[in-house]
Amino acid sequence: MKRLFECLAVAVVLSFSACTQKTEAEKFVDDLMEKMTLREKLGQMTQVIPKTGVITGPEGEPMNIEELLKAGEVGSMLGVRRAEQIEKYQRMAVDSSRLGIPVLFGFDIIHGCKVIFPINLAAACSWDIDAIRQSAQIAAYESAATGIAWTFSPMCDISADPRWGRVSEGAGEDPFLGSAVSRAMVEGYQGTDLSDSSTILACVKHFAAYGAPEAGRDYNTVDMSERMFRDRYLPPYKSAIDAGAMSVMSSFNDYDGIPASGNKWLMKDLLKDELGFKGFVVSDYHAVIEMVDHGVAADHKEAALKSLKAYLDMEMVSGSYLNHGEELVEEGLIDMDAIDQMCRSILLVKYYLGLFEDPFRYGGVERAKASVYKPEHLDFAREVARESMVLLKNDNDVLPLDESADIALIGPYVSDGDAMLGSWAGFGEKDKAITYEQGIRERFKGRIETVRGCDPFSEVEGGVQKAVRAASKADVAVLTLGYPGVMSGEAASMATVELPQAQKELLEAVRKTGTPVVVLLVTGRPMALESVESLMDGLLVVWHPGSEGGRAAADLLSGDYSPSGHLAMTFPRCDGQIPIRYNHKATGRPTDRVQGVLSLDNLKKYYKSCYLFTPNTPLYPFGYGLSYTHFAFDSLEIVNPEPVVGEDVTVRMRVSNTGERDGATVAQLYIHDQVASTTRPVRELKGFKRVDLKAGESKVVEFVLKAEDMAFCREDMKFAQEPGDFTVWVGEDCNASLEGRFTVR
Ligand code: NOJ
Repeated sequence: MKRLFECLAVAVVLSFSACTQKTEAEKFVDDLMEKMTLREKLGQMTQVIPKTGVITGPEGEPMNIEELLKAGEVGSMLGVRRAEQIEKYQRMAVDSSRLGIPVLFGFDIIHGCKVIFPINLAAACSWDIDAIRQSAQIAAYESAATGIAWTFSPMCDISADPRWGRVSEGAGEDPFLGSAVSRAMVEGYQGTDLSDSSTILACVKHFAAYGAPEAGRDYNTVDMSERMFRDRYLPPYKSAIDAGAMSVMSSFNDYDGIPASGNKWLMKDLLKDELGFKGFVVSDYHAVIEMVDHGVAADHKEAALKSLKAYLDMEMVSGSYLNHGEELVEEGLIDMDAIDQMCRSILLVKYYLGLFEDPFRYGGVERAKASVYKPEHLDFAREVARESMVLLKNDNDVLPLDESADIALIGPYVSDGDAMLGSWAGFGEKDKAITYEQGIRERFKGRIETVRGCDPFSEVEGGVQKAVRAASKADVAVLTLGYPGVMSGEAASMATVELPQAQKELLEAVRKTGTPVVVLLVTGRPMALESVESLMDGLLVVWHPGSEGGRAAADLLSGDYSPSGHLAMTFPRCDGQIPIRYNHKATGRPTDRVQGVLSLDNLKKYYKSCYLFTPNTPLYPFGYGLSYTHFAFDSLEIVNPEPVVGEDVTVRMRVSNTGERDGATVAQLYIHDQVASTTRPVRELKGFKRVDLKAGESKVVEFVLKAEDMAFCREDMKFAQEPGDFTVWVGEDCNASLEGRFTVR
C-alpha cells in the first residue's frame, strides 16, 4: 500500500511539473514580454486597417499607421490586399520598431481567396465534408501565398432566418451539420501544423449567437435562453474550438443584455475556462466602441475597459485599447496581469505561426503570382459547385436537357460575374468567373440566345418582349432569377425574401409562351417561392457558385452529372413563416395538419399551433434535394436497440439507386427523444453520409450514434444524456419515413 502511495505521489509531482514546465513558445514569449512596455503590449492587442485596405466596416478615426508600425504598436493589420504591400508593412514593423515584433495580417477569406468556391451555405448543401475541408485548404494555400496568415472564418453562426443576409456565410440551420462543417474548415485552414507556410490561422465567429438577431436584422439584439443557446447555437463554435481553432471573433450583438465585446461570461467563463479555448479573441469591426451605441458605455474609454475586463484580447480597428489602455492601468481600473494574459495569448499564436522565426514566411510577390488560380484548384471548385447546387423541382423530367436543344437563356444574371462570386469573395475577380452564358455555350450545341429581360428590381425597356420572343423560338427557356451577390452577407437583411416583382413579371410572361421553363435560382439565402413555383417546370438552386459556377451549372443541366445537393436550410413558403426550422419543438398543441385552416368556420374550433390559411410546413424542407435518378431506403436495423447510458447505438440500412442513371444521395439520420426533462425538437439530424451509387446499385450504410449525440441541456442545466425511448428515421430529407426505435436504459 505504501508503495502505491509513493508511486502516486511521484506521479502527481511529475504531472504537476509537466503542467508548470514552460514550452519553448512560452519561454520565448515571456522573455519578450519582459522587454515590452505597456504601450507595446496594448499595440499587440490592436488591429488596424490602412486607408488603402479593403474596408469592411464604417469609417473610423484616421490613424497614422506607418508611425504606429515603427513604434511597435500594431499587432495585426486587416484588409491589406497585395503581397508587396504586406511585405512593405512587415518590413516597417520588423526593421524599424524597437523589438521587431512581426505583424499578423488578416482578411476575410470566407469561401476562397482567388479561386472562389460556392458560398458557404451552398457548400454545406453538398454535405461533402471532405470537399469542404479541401476547399478551405486550397483557400489557405492561396491566402498564405499572398501573405494573409489569418482568415476570419469559419462563420459558425446557426440561423433559421433567411431575412438575415449572413446566412450565406454559414452552414445553415442545423447544429450537427454546422459542427461537422466548422470542424472541417478549421482542419482545412490550419492543417496539422500552424507553422507550415501553406496553412493559416482560422477564426471562429461570431461569438456568440449572432445568427439569431431579432427580426433577422443584422447587428440586432439576440435574446435567448442559455438552454437554447447551449443546445442549438453553441455546438458549431465548440466543434471548431475542439478542432484546434486558435482565434475567435466576438460578435456585434448583445446577448442577454450584454454586448458580446464586453461579455465576460461569454469570453472568459464559457470560452476560455469552460471550453478550454487556448488562442486569442478579436473583437468584430468597431464592436468595442459600439458599446457606446449599445448604451452600456459612456465613452470609448469605458468601452475599452469593459472589453478588457471581459478578456477580449485584440480590438479590431477602433483603437480604444491603444488610446485609453495606459490610463486605465494607471487608474487601477484594469490590472497588468490581465493585460499580460491577453498580450501573451496573441504573441503565442504568432509564435505558433512561425512569425518570429521568419516574419516573411507568408507571402512574397513571386510566390503569390505562382500559387493562385492553379488549374487543379479551379477544377476542384467546379466539382464543389456541382455538388452544392440543389434540384428542387423537375416536372416531367424537364432536366437534363438535350445537348442539341435550342436554349433561350434569360434573366439578369446570365453573364454577371458578381453573381457567380457572391459576397465576401476574398480576392476573387469577377471577370475571371465563368458565367452561366459561358458555361452553357461551352457545353451545348444548339442555338443559344441570351436576353437580360429585366434588372434584379426593375424592368428594362423591351426586355420582357425580347425574352418572350426568344423563349417562343426555343426548346427550353432557362431563366437566371434571384438576387445579386451584394444582396447577401453583412448588412444585407431583407424584410421579404420573395422574388422581386420585375422578375416575377418576366417569369410569368415567359411561362405564357408554353416553352418549358427551368429556373436557375441565384441566391445567397433561402427564398419564399410559393407564389411563383407553379410557373417553373424545373428549379435548380445554383446559389453563388464561385469561379467555375457556369461550368458546374452546365454539367448538371446537360446531365453529365446528376444533381446531389440537399438543402442545409429550409425554404419557406412565404415571409410570414420565418424564422422556420425543421427541428422545432412540438408545443403543447402540435398539429399534424398539412394545410392551414382554410375556412372561417374552423377558426374557433382548431386550437392548435398553426397559422390561419398557411400550412406550417415549408415549401422545401431541410435536407431535401432531387436527382436525375431515384433512391430507396430499406432494411433498417438497429444493432443494439437497448443501449445503456453512455453506449453507442449502431444503425444500418440499405440504400439503393432504383433509377437508370448513376447518382449520389445524402443518407440522413434523424432522432427524437420521446420523453425528456426538457422539451426536445420533433426531429434532430444526428448522422449523414453522401452515398455514390451506380444505376441499380445498393449499399449498406451504417451510422454510429454516440452518447453525446443524444445529450442535451437537461432540466438541471447539465449537458448529458437521459435514459428513455428514441425514434429514429432515415432517408433523404427531414421528413424521412423509414422508422425504428431504441431505448436507452
Ligand atoms: C465585420 C464582419 O462582421 C466580420 O465577419 C468580418 O470578419 C470583419 N468585419 C472584418 O472584415
